[in-house]
Amino acid sequence: MARELTFKILRYDPSHPEIQAQFQEYKLKEKPGMTLFIALNQIREELDPTLAFDFVCRAGICGSCGMVVNGKPQLACKALTKNFNADFPITLAPMPGFELIKDLSVDTGVWMEAMTKRVESWVHTESETDISKQEKPVDPDLANEIFELDRCIECGLCVSSCMTKLMRPDFVGAVGLNRVARFYMDPHDDREASDFYELVGDDNGVFGCMSLMGCEDHCPKEIPLQSKIAYVRRELVKVGLKR
Ligand code: SF4
Ligand code: FES
Repeated sequence: MARELTFKILRYDPSHPEIQAQFQEYKLKEKPGMTLFIALNQIREELDPTLAFDFVCRAGICGSCGMVVNGKPQLACKALTKNFNADFPITLAPMPGFELIKDLSVDTGVWMEAMTKRVESWVHTESETDISKQEKPVDPDLANEIFELDRCIECGLCVSSCMTKLMRPDFVGAVGLNRVARFYMDPHDDREASDFYELVGDDNGVFGCMSLMGCEDHCPKEIPLQSKIAYVRRELVKVGLKR
């Protein structure tokens, strides 16, 4: 027999601050293969058209559907309802650390754009590309390691799981430090450790991380965030000691 699921969803619209934030309950029958994405769409279609949440790809690729599920940041399109105990409500809330748009919808884009500019997340080089010549080879192991870090989908789960980010609003987050590691390792990028020190060599950067591991525990792409943060920290400490 299909289980009845109860959803307790935090409702708040910042454009109507006179209406207090409150949890609203919805009940629906579980279907085989149901995800939180499917459940939320069913709630919106059948029970409450005013409920706001974000989705694009439904496949764990676009990074739009992050939300706090029973206290832990998750991608809703990858969360199967069969993994939740139906004796208790499934509690959904928006991800902290980002601007709230409404209900479960937050604006990760503005934050990610600012972070991208802050860590100058692009290849810096003086060399001109000559397309008539063969590209310089990159060691395959190194290329794989960089590719591993490039799998980030900018979902923001690592930011929402981070205590440092909650205490320091300007903390660049694991996603930003992962980006630093990615370009520092890239042989196409001419920047040295001292250049990255200027960008993230402070408590709002790599020295603010308390190594609580929330980022790595919740990253849906299983990016090795802690080891990369430790790598960046080791490299930048050497710069700091010379100053
Ligand atoms: S590092 Fe992981 S958790 Fe953080 S934004 Fe990228 S994919 Fe999401
Ligand atoms: S909808 Fe794209 S990651 Fe969930």
